Amino acid sequence: MSTHPVDDATFTKPLIRALHRHVDQLAASIPGPNTHTDHQRRQRIAAAWVYLSAVVAWAEDHALIDVTLRTGLRKVPARFTAGHARPVVALAQAMGKLTIHPATQWLMHPAYNTALHAGTPTDDAVQALGDWWAADAPSLAHEVTSGPPSITGWIIGDLLQAITDERRKGFALAQTPWWVCDFLLDRTLIPALTEFRHERLIRTMDPSAGTGHMLIRTMDYLWEWYTTGRCEPRSAGTTATGGTRVHPQWALPRVVASVDGVEIDPLTAAIARLRCTVYAAHLAHTAGYATGPLRLDSIPRELTPRIGVADSLLLGKVNADTYASAHPHLATLPGASFTGGDWDHAAPAGQPEPTPPVVLGQLDLFDGIAA
Ligand SMILES: C[S@@+](CC[C@H](N)C(=O)[O-])C[C@H]1O[C@@H](n2cnc3c(N)ncnc32)[C@H](O)[C@@H]1O
Repeated sequence: MSTHPVDDATFTKPLIRALHRHVDQLAASIPGPNTHTDHQRRQRIAAAWVYLSAVVAWAEDHALIDVTLRTGLRKVPARFTAGHARPVVALAQAMGKLTIHPATQWLMHPAYNTALHAGTPTDDAVQALGDWWAADAPSLAHEVTSGPPSITGWIIGDLLQAITDERRKGFALAQTPWWVCDFLLDRTLIPALTEFRHERLIRTMDPSAGTGHMLIRTMDYLWEWYTTGRCEPRSAGTTATGGTRVHPQWALPRVVASVDGVEIDPLTAAIARLRCTVYAAHLAHTAGYATGPLRLDSIPRELTPRIGVADSLLLGKVNADTYASAHPHLATLPGASFTGGDWDHAAPAGQPEPTPPVVLGQLDLFDGIAA
């Protein structure tokens, strides 16, 4: 049985209960009529604020950003007045620190995190949340003996489904436990590594990526493969051998270029982008070739993972107009495709298929990389 904190109900249940309590408190502080529909609206807004505060706490606990939430939001200077910023402003500023990297800029974007922009809780409710994170909440950084280290953000991936109910119900966001990911990868990726051991790049894809659980575990396996030329199964099976061992500096761009994800829900995808970016940088640090502390504002921009926001059942199968009528919000979403350009939609009826697009990320990543 796993003793990993993310599987330990004595750790997760009180945390989730406390976060729900703050969702209720923040929701009650948001103005609006006392109707059922408005209650749901306020709960959604409050959940967005509370959830992103958990992401901030995780980032602060791993020194990815400066600490403000874990000190109770009290040390943020006000911009235009003497004294300290209002708690709600201080929290928003702390959240803003998460968006510093090109891959993480979407976390507060109104098209990705709509509920966050739909209302503002009161300073008192936000200060109570800040006080709880400062004094009572557990650390989200933990040592593990097996399974994903806490720098993978596994806990913040799980908290998204635990705190924002409507996302879980609407899109079936019920993510795979890490040991089930490993079970699946042992039986799919490891045989594939053996079969394609002479390939310079192993390509993988999670077409319903969630917050990136499977992507993160895949990165772990591939890091081992590219840096050692072999990969041990995590649960059972035969070790893959015979790969070409490359220096970690060249292995990392290969890991990033090997892992693709598509996710239909923008905020869920934004969390996956954050997690995969941080984990790629963490791998560079563990290999000892990245210098200085691991901070979000110093992660190279090439470590941007390819995680698109799209309906993977329709993408490439229908033309752009049909796609836009099925998903108007996704069709106009900034940064939806990992290349930053447009998706490769199917040609309109009667017209020839377009030339396959160049995957810009892949080209950039391999520029100058030794074979
Ligand atoms: C069960 S979760 C799996 C997440 C992840 N693969 C894992 O193993 O933890 C399914 C995810 O698929 C997403 N999803 C559902 N339909 C989709 C579609 N048509 N295109 C892309 N993503 C979709 C949901 O939003 C949800 O995050």
